[in-house]
This record gives sequence, structure tokens and C-alpha cells, in this order.
Amino acid sequence: MKTSKNIPIGIFDSGVGGLSVWEEVIKILPNHKLLYFADNAYSPYGPRSVQEIIERSKKISEFLIKKGAAIIVIACNTATAAAIDSLRSTFSIPFIGMEPAIKPAASLTKTGVVGVLATKGTLGGSIYNNTLSMFASNVQVVEQVGTGLVPMVESGRVDGPELDELLLKYITPMVEKGADTIVLGCTHYSFLKKAIEEIVGESVTIIDPAPAVARHLYKIAKENKIIDFKSSESLLGVNMYKSCYSNTQFYSSGHNVVLKAVARGVLSQIPDDCFMEINL
Ligand code: DGL
Repeated sequence: MKTSKNIPIGIFDSGVGGLSVWEEVIKILPNHKLLYFADNAYSPYGPRSVQEIIERSKKISEFLIKKGAAIIVIACNTATAAAIDSLRSTFSIPFIGMEPAIKPAASLTKTGVVGVLATKGTLGGSIYNNTLSMFASNVQVVEQVGTGLVPMVESGRVDGPELDELLLKYITPMVEKGADTIVLGCTHYSFLKKAIEEIVGESVTIIDPAPAVARHLYKIAKENKIIDFKSSESLLGVNMYKSCYSNTQFYSSGHNVVLKAVARGVLSQIPDDCFMEINL
């Protein structure tokens, strides 16, 4: 019998960054069929043109929809900024994008200074700038493009002196200007949270929007009858998270060595046949 549990949810990113969102999704929907696409042959998206990112996002969405996806999470701030409107007008299924966490940051800050670390594409996009004018009129926002950070995470380097040097360069000016709250505006940066925490210490709060995006997905998927009682049983206290290898099929447009390693850092038992490299 085809239950809603078998209707896949698609998730995509330029690479492994979206796994930070996937990790939150499987906490809420541990049994649901998920399709994850890492477009690492085209990573990083940050320096690419809006047109290029729209083309890749359409291609990936088409692929995921052909595989049965009934809802898609754009687990990439840069692709959300460039392509969400175009995807919504091209395809009839719902798309969930990344939200820049400016609103929670503006209400949390005590110093009135918020740091935002994101890609050039995200900081230049209208979603981010509209959010700023809606929620950040009473705070000072210190923006920083994280040039070089995505390729580091893509090559599996989430600590070490080279990374620390880059992070120090990006984070120190925010802290010097008084930021007590830092927004991670790129899903790859979630994997750098520990390294950033080591630099800023406990007095700075780091906001990662991934849990909020997963909760939003849950709400929209439920409204669209894509999830059912069984697939959401973690919410009812039967959390299978960590005890199984999830129900996710991973695709990548490039090599999947790091993708496997990062996904298995979350769920160690994911078998090899859950990973597929494809030419898209
Ligand atoms: N994870 C993407 C984001 O959230 C990374 C962008 C990139 O590939 O440059 O923006």
C-alpha cells in the first residue's frame, strides 16, 4: 500500500551544507523517504551568476520531482536567494527555502549589534534585504562574505589552522564592533559552528536557521498530506534517530567521498548503496 510515508521529500544544496538541514529533518521525520541532492560538481554557488544558479536549481528540482519528490527543501541560502521565485513559478509542488535568521537575532541581541556570515549571493539577494528592512531597523548589522569557507567544508576541513585563520579574519571585526549574536547565513557554516564558538566564546550566540526550516517543512508537508502519523513518530516519543540509518537516498553531481563522510557523521550506518554519483 502506498502511504504518505513513501512520498519522497527532496532536499538540495550545492554540496554537503544542506546536510545540516537534513540532520534536523530526520530528527522530526526519522522514517520518511528523503532524497538529498548535492550539486558538488558545481560548488560553490556563491560566486556564480543568478542565472546559472536558477538553471542548476531547475535541473535538480526536475530530477527530484521525476524521482517522486512532492515537496522540495532548498537547503541552500544562495540558491534560495537566486532561484526560489523561479522554481515556484515553474513547478507546482511546494518549495521551502532557507530563511535568514535576522528576526530571532534582532530580538536576542543585547548589544544591538548582529553579525551575519553568508555568501555574496545571499547578502545581495532581495529575500535577505527585505528581511533586513522588516526586522533589523533597530539593530546594527555587520555583514561578512565567507569567501573560501564553502570549499573548505566541501573538502572535509572543518577544523585546523587554515580554517581558524579565515574564521578569525571574518569573525573578529564583528565582535570588535560589538556583535553578541551571529547569524549563520549559509548551510555549510553549520559545520563550522564549533570552530566559531571556539573563537567567540560563550558570550556570543550563534544562530543556525536549520531547525526552524525543518519545523517549517513539517508544517507544510503535513498541510499537503505528504507526511502521516507513522513518519512523524519521533514527535510522539518514538525517536528512531541514531538507531537506524534513515530512509534517505543521496545523489551527487560530483564525487561523494565527503558527502558519505559527513552524512555518516550524523548516522554512521548509512550503506554504500544509498549514495549515487550522477551526471546531471
Ligand atoms: N550551502 C550554500 C548556502 O547556504 C552554500 C553556497 C555556496 O555553494 O557557495 O548558501
